[in-house]
Amino acid sequence: MPFFRPAIDSMSGYVPGEQPQAGKFIKLNTNENPYPASAAVKQAVTAVLDQGLGRYPDPMAGAFRRRAAEVLGVEPEWILCGNGSDELLTMVTRAFVGEGQLLRLPYPSYILYKTLAEIQGAASEEVRFDRDWTLPDDFAASGDQLRLAFLPNPNSPSGTMISPDRVLELAERLPCPLLVDEAYVDFADTNCLALVKRSEKIMVSRSLSKSYALAGLRFGFLVAQPHIIEGLAKVKDSYNCDALSIAAATAAIDDQKWLAETRAKIIATRRRLTIGMSELGFEPVDSQANFVWCPHPKLPVKPLYERLKASRVLVRYMDYAGWGDGLRISVGSDEQIDACLALLNGMV
Ligand SMILES: Cc1ncc(COP(=O)(O)O)c(C=O)c1O
Repeated sequence: MPFFRPAIDSMSGYVPGEQPQAGKFIKLNTNENPYPASAAVKQAVTAVLDQGLGRYPDPMAGAFRRRAAEVLGVEPEWILCGNGSDELLTMVTRAFVGEGQLLRLPYPSYILYKTLAEIQGAASEEVRFDRDWTLPDDFAASGDQLRLAFLPNPNSPSGTMISPDRVLELAERLPCPLLVDEAYVDFADTNCLALVKRSEKIMVSRSLSKSYALAGLRFGFLVAQPHIIEGLAKVKDSYNCDALSIAAATAAIDDQKWLAETRAKIIATRRRLTIGMSELGFEPVDSQANFVWCPHPKLPVKPLYERLKASRVLVRYMDYAGWGDGLRISVGSDEQIDACLALLNGMV
């Protein structure tokens, strides 16, 4: 079709993880939360529905900004809301990276970053993690056309983290802004939020999809210095978050007791999964997220993914060129993880 921009014509588009719409699966492939969201979410959504949906929502999602600001210890002007954190990644790329320019990302990591560069007609440069999932200094190297760097922290698929001190060091040396993608950080021991105050180059994005069990809602937020938020807001859709999602997300972040309880359950099950996979001969990587990356030193793992799927257990099979393959298994409930481990036990 001749009308697409060349950049769009030549790209293939991001392929999300499988979301089967029929049949019953134990779904451990896209890092969703197995537990129901806070009961306050349903009440908040019902209250909005009772008022009706005839009016446009608040364009900046003020209610969420105010509540999240209290929880995070920043001012509301430091927060920008998005239709899932993916949308914030899109906004950041749109705002900073133009045609022919360069975006940097670590490898292996979240494949969407590359797609976002492609949409802009920009190039992307992958800097390989060291084998122990630390980041080499190259990640902060200068580059003529370099306009933005993405760092998922915890990383996917590994679930590993770069320490805030190291992130600051890299950010200070980078000649461009650094987006620290903290989609999974609520499951981790540390985070980079405090760095935002120290450097205008650092932005932190967060998601309500995983830790708050709201993947179906689509809500995320970004924290950066107020003048950065103002600039980013110029490229967002006028009403990027709808009235239902703003109310639901505000209720969710308000319920920190629910978050603490759910987080504790997931971290306990993560340990159970890691030990179980290790006993089956895999080499699971210690995770700070709600999934565990499980390469196997000897066995080909793709057939295991396929056999699990045939038994209606869906995990993610990933094969990274030049790095290796593995199964990325989301931390479900204890019952789901036990079912997955029992099936694998009969296969390896
Ligand atoms: C590293 C990373 N960042 C961001 C996202 C997007 O999350 P959201 O549902 O908030 O768009 C994902 C989703 O899988 C992810 O793995």
